[in-house]
Amino acid sequence: MAAYELIDHEYDVVVVGAGGSGLRAALGAAQQGLKVACVTKVFPTRSHTVAAQGGISASLGNMGEDSWQWHMYDTVKGSDWLGDQDAIEYLVRNAPKAVYELEHWGVPFSRTDEGKIYQRAFGGMTRNFGEGPVQRTCAAADRTGHAILHTLYGQSVRREVEFFVEYFALDLIMQDGTCTGVTALQLDNGQMHQFRAKMVVLATGGYGRAYFSATSAHTCTGDGNAMVLRAGLPLQDMEFVQFHPTGIYGAGCLITEGARGEGGYLTNSEGERFMERYAPTVKDLAPRDMVSRSMTIEIREGRGVGPNKDHIYLHLDHLDPAILHQRLPGISESAKIFAGVDVTKEPIPVLPTVHYNMGGIPTNYHGEVLTLRDGNPDSVVPGLMAVGEAACVSVHGANRLGSNSLTDLVVFGRAVGLRCGEVVDKAAPVQAAPKSQIDAHMARFDRFRYASGSTPTSELRLSMQRAMQSDAAVFRTGKTLEEGVQKLRAIDAAGSDIKTTDRGLIWNTDLMETLEYDNLISQAMVTIEGAANRTESRGAHAREDFPDRDDTNWMKHTLAWKRPGEGVQIDYRPVHNYTMSDEVSYIEPKARVY
Ligand code: FUM
Repeated sequence: MAAYELIDHEYDVVVVGAGGSGLRAALGAAQQGLKVACVTKVFPTRSHTVAAQGGISASLGNMGEDSWQWHMYDTVKGSDWLGDQDAIEYLVRNAPKAVYELEHWGVPFSRTDEGKIYQRAFGGMTRNFGEGPVQRTCAAADRTGHAILHTLYGQSVRREVEFFVEYFALDLIMQDGTCTGVTALQLDNGQMHQFRAKMVVLATGGYGRAYFSATSAHTCTGDGNAMVLRAGLPLQDMEFVQFHPTGIYGAGCLITEGARGEGGYLTNSEGERFMERYAPTVKDLAPRDMVSRSMTIEIREGRGVGPNKDHIYLHLDHLDPAILHQRLPGISESAKIFAGVDVTKEPIPVLPTVHYNMGGIPTNYHGEVLTLRDGNPDSVVPGLMAVGEAACVSVHGANRLGSNSLTDLVVFGRAVGLRCGEVVDKAAPVQAAPKSQIDAHMARFDRFRYASGSTPTSELRLSMQRAMQSDAAVFRTGKTLEEGVQKLRAIDAAGSDIKTTDRGLIWNTDLMETLEYDNLISQAMVTIEGAANRTESRGAHAREDFPDRDDTNWMKHTLAWKRPGEGVQIDYRPVHNYTMSDEVSYIEPKARVY
């Protein structure tokens, strides 16, 4: 093993990840007077939040009547009753406050003629408990994530958060079940670091790149989720993977749901607006799981468009070009570049594309990481929090509503900052890092740095991505899932023969991609094994062999463990069947009709 000299750092709070949730958590903790570091593998404003397009949901009521109770109902129904209703109440009640805070910090929201924040319609967002679409999604044209991320970065710098940019987090330092820090590789020079802290906050995003085609950035490899698995802690509800209905056919780039919110619609090869058949009330603005399934059925039944009848058209060509220019400039440009389409004249070819992970690190609505310990499914892991797409609070349950993600980032990022203020003792000493832990982290690192097998990382990664794409798709069956499980177990085992070629430490992308692959494969395995295990259909998990939701047996969260060198183990947590306050009662499960 190489001898690594680690540079030592000591903080009250270390946030890993600098997307919307990481920045909001970091600046929130700094607002509490804590000493905060933010460790990030990309420059903060290149984090994947920058790609969020359509907007952030909050019941401001700027475009007509709205209420947090309606927003709560829609989110619970959208989640197919797998969301925890106490956390959902926290999300929707705090959403308006979080949006106004962003406005005051400088987010350049689009405006109504009266100067209020402009809000557009989005899938599954309704008025009066499902009567019809409501305009609840606050937008900065179709570059809302970009606007929020830049604003939050500026605010974090103002609050003196210390940034460690282009540092790749390796593993959690754990002592007797408590997290006391994280190790990281400085990518530009190969220097190793240990960040010791009283609280580590994982804000490392989703793992869309476990699939072949995803709207997620190539950096979305779920590094925090994988660190949690390696620490012997579980991930939750990983079988629920969201396919966004409108990825550009062939390229996978996102065309915002806001396009349908502004009046766009989908057609099949017969020119039919087929969503009218599947969701008569809200049509093209049904939740994403339903629209993706409907598109897949149209294609399977021979009504896809194009020479191979394998995709669907999204029409914006009936809309006023001035409106397209004002409200959807980004996707107009993407359609031109990636599909060669002038949206004012032709439809965009689209296909459901992997977009979001509902599952992740289980937390309560303060952001504290939970595990199952001594029979207690809500046992807090001291020293560890998670937020954003990495976390599973769970407010999205089995299916997230579009534009609830940016809300999740800032509402729970803020909650994490507030909780840090309550539980982190500024006067307490920071724990030393045990040598055995650091040695174990470095040994894993060296295993990949000096890997001299015969299978390049790219080959294993491609096999994993193809297996996930074909076997854990929009529709699943026991047969496809079992095939996928067997393929992924074989791919995981083939990791013992992995080959890296660059032994250096300066911008070693071969090594970094290998570490990312190792993170992805463990998440792919808990995803597909969780999907094979769940014998019902709920939200984005659509089993053709078990087409109905089964509340008697399956209204529960999956917990999945995968320790290095071991198989996947599964257990469960109850869904919270209670709300946060007495001001709203539990929303009873019923059929999900739109
Ligand atoms: O369609 C979109 O603009 C994506 C939004 C989201 O995932 O929340």
